Amino acid sequence: MPIDKTHFFCNLPANSEIAEMKNRIIDIRNDFPILKQKVNNKELIYFDNAATTQKPQIVLDTLNEYYTKYNANIHRGVHFLSSFTTEATENARKTIQKFINAKSNKEVIITKGTTDSINLIAFSFGERYVSEGDEIIVSEMEHHSNIVPWQLMCERKKAKIIVLPMNDNGELEIEKLDNLISDKTKLISVAHVSNALGTINPIEEIIQKAHSKDIPVLIDGAQAVQHIKVDVKELDCDFYVFSGHKLYGPTGVGVLYGKEELLNELPPYQGGGEMISKVTFAKTTFNELPFKFEAGTPNYIDTIGLAKAIDYVQDIGLENIYKYETQLLNYATYKLKKIKGLRIIGEANKKSSVISFLIDGIHPTDAGTLLDQLGIAIRTGTHCAEPVMQHFNISGTTRASFAFYNTFEEIDEFVKGLERVHGMLS
Ligand code: ALA
Repeated sequence: MPIDKTHFFCNLPANSEIAEMKNRIIDIRNDFPILKQKVNNKELIYFDNAATTQKPQIVLDTLNEYYTKYNANIHRGVHFLSSFTTEATENARKTIQKFINAKSNKEVIITKGTTDSINLIAFSFGERYVSEGDEIIVSEMEHHSNIVPWQLMCERKKAKIIVLPMNDNGELEIEKLDNLISDKTKLISVAHVSNALGTINPIEEIIQKAHSKDIPVLIDGAQAVQHIKVDVKELDCDFYVFSGHKLYGPTGVGVLYGKEELLNELPPYQGGGEMISKVTFAKTTFNELPFKFEAGTPNYIDTIGLAKAIDYVQDIGLENIYKYETQLLNYATYKLKKIKGLRIIGEANKKSSVISFLIDGIHPTDAGTLLDQLGIAIRTGTHCAEPVMQHFNISGTTRASFAFYNTFEEIDEFVKGLERVHGMLS
């Protein structure tokens, strides 16, 4: 695979580990059947990984295998299929537990995804701990999924949202947090990594500051777990949430991690199915963790698929992934900055492999549509983070987001594509 030497200007040493990673990319790409196809008669270049990642063959095979050979509703049957799939699901939970280094599998609740996990906590935590006049702190760079559930809860409880601002680099103004925390603050909820800007937030510092005042913290890890090793014990966060589909796993499955003692205090979110202990018309008692929060038939086959995706990612190694993706990010940043009139939105010191940008006189939708004609999939718009756009006084951005299966050559094609768009439209 020829490597464009200009990436050596990117301030990162091309050490042997990264070179080895590059050699592995060819094999890795072969694991993702979708990457082999053409779109609009062009080789597909998939740079929309912050929206969802593609799935390796092992995940696709696992889903197929379970539906073909082992499908039966879990936790309810004495027969072979049900027992087999129940065991596989609970083993998947243990894989997830180890992946984030949770203390116990009771702390791993399977949900539909990040949004579902945040809604669960906003509801249950709100019911238990929030009263009129109380406050929840979120940041200015949150995805709508980490704003709206809190707004709904605050409306119900007559509580208030307080916003931790960011600067024009797209970095949180963390020094303002102490002044925003008051005796009314009940919880702080922030993104680990911004989906719109790529900023990696100093969550360790936020958690420390919050805990020094006995305030629990929820971390939205939807854009983090696929790039950065997360250790919930070391972080000491109270809740950590993420989605399967952004972690090379299936859609419709996600995770809520919560400290056992906290989850035990919270009332159930939804009723039905496995979340009960005993039901009478007079009174219902609830199951233990983690089942108390898993009403209805769980998404067991996708949970098993998610565990396979985690095994796959861990086999490559998150440290290798982070290093390689950082190379891609730096290379793309270096090349994009050479395009006349191109402005990067979000230039934080610490970033994941997401680049949002605007080109003078070119609407993001037009850029996205023309790039699609070249087989290049990027995303345009507000990225479900309208307050971020309001901060920069823009209506949206063009966003390229990279995964470990992307290459320097794809970035070269992308830059060439953008230059063509520039030539046509400006
Ligand atoms: N939240 C996803 C994104 O950033 C959909 O694109």
